[in-house]
Amino acid sequence: MKLNIALLAGDGIGPEVIDQAVKVSNAVAQKFDHEISWTPALTGAAAIDAVGEPYPDETHEVCANADAVLFGAIGHPRFDNDPSAKVRPEQGLLKMRQKLGLFANVRPTFTFPSLIDKSPLKRERIEGTDLIILRELTGGVYFGERGRKDDGDTAFDTMTYQRFEVERLARKGFEMALKRGKKLCCVDKANVLEASRLWRETVQALEKEYPEVEVSYEFVDAVAMRLIQWPKGYDVIITANLFGDILTDEASVISGSMGLMPSSSVGSEVSLYEPIHGSYPQAAGKDIANPLATVLSAAMMFEDLDLAKEAKAIRDVVNKSLAEGVVTEDLADGGKAYKTSEVGDWLAANI
Ligand code: IPM
Ligand code: MN
Repeated sequence: MKLNIALLAGDGIGPEVIDQAVKVSNAVAQKFDHEISWTPALTGAAAIDAVGEPYPDETHEVCANADAVLFGAIGHPRFDNDPSAKVRPEQGLLKMRQKLGLFANVRPTFTFPSLIDKSPLKRERIEGTDLIILRELTGGVYFGERGRKDDGDTAFDTMTYQRFEVERLARKGFEMALKRGKKLCCVDKANVLEASRLWRETVQALEKEYPEVEVSYEFVDAVAMRLIQWPKGYDVIITANLFGDILTDEASVISGSMGLMPSSSVGSEVSLYEPIHGSYPQAAGKDIANPLATVLSAAMMFEDLDLAKEAKAIRDVVNKSLAEGVVTEDLADGGKAYKTSEVGDWLAANI
C-alpha cells in the first residue's frame, strides 16, 4: 500500500518524538511492504517564526490531501508568558482541528503490564483499565464567543453547543461502545450549565437507537474523582471539549506517564494522530522526551488505515521495550535512562 502522510512536527519536543515515530513507521512499512511518503509542513511557533501564522494555508493543503496527519506538539513559553500576544501557537492547533473538521478526539486509557507499579495509584484499582475518553474537539468554550468588556476588566468565554455537534459525537460514542464494553457515560455539568442540558437531552434521544448500550450520566466534578478511584467502571466516556481536555490529562496518571498516551482526532475526512502531551519546552533539544505516545499514535493511524497487523507490531514492540527497560528518564526509575533517539532506534530495529 502507498501511504501519503502529512508530518507536522511542531514545537518543543515535537520534532524529536516525531522522528522516532517516523523511524518506527518506516520499519513497519518495510516489514509489511508498504511505501510511506512523508510530507513535512510547518505549524505552531515554528510556523509563526517562518511565515507569521501558526497554521498556514500551505500546511492545510498538505493535511487535506494526505491519507493521515501525524502531529507532534505545539506551544512555546515565550507566548505563555505574554498574555498580550496576538498570534499564539495554540491557535494553529485549534484552527487545524476546525478546518480539518476533526470533531472527535479519541483518547484511550489503558495500563501497561510492566508499568503498573509505576503509577501513583494502587495496582488493584488500575490493573485492567480499558476506557476511551471521546472528547468533543471543535466546539464548546474553546470556540465560543469570547472577549473583553469595554472596561477591560471583564473577560468572557462562552460554552456554546449546537445539537448536531453533540449528536455526531454521541453517535461515535455509541458506535464505539457497541464494539467494546457496551457502556457509555455522558460527562457534563447539567446541574449548572444549559449547554450540558442540551448534551443530556441529545444523548437521551439517541438511547433508543442503541438499546444494547447501557448509558449513564455523570457530573464532571464527580468523574474527576471516580476516574482515578474506579477507572474500571468506565468504558466509553463522551464529553465536551474543555472537560475532555482536563479529564484526559488526569487519566494519563493511570497509565504511569503522560509520555505514553496517544490519541486520534477524527471527522469526516482526513484523521490526525498526536500524543496527548504538549511541547514540554524544558526538555526540547535534549533528546530525553518519551517518544512512546507519538509512536503509539502512529499505531492508531495504521489501525484506522485498516492495517491492524502493522498497528499490532508497533504495540508489541512498545510493550517489549517497556518490559526490557529500554525507556526514557521519565520511566527509568533509577535504572538506565535511554535517549529519545535510542528508544526510537531500538523500536525500529525490533519491529
Ligand atoms: C491538548 C492540548 C491543547 C488543548 C492545547 C495545546 C491547546 O492541551 O491537545 O489537549 O487544550 O486542546
Ligand atoms: Mn490538553
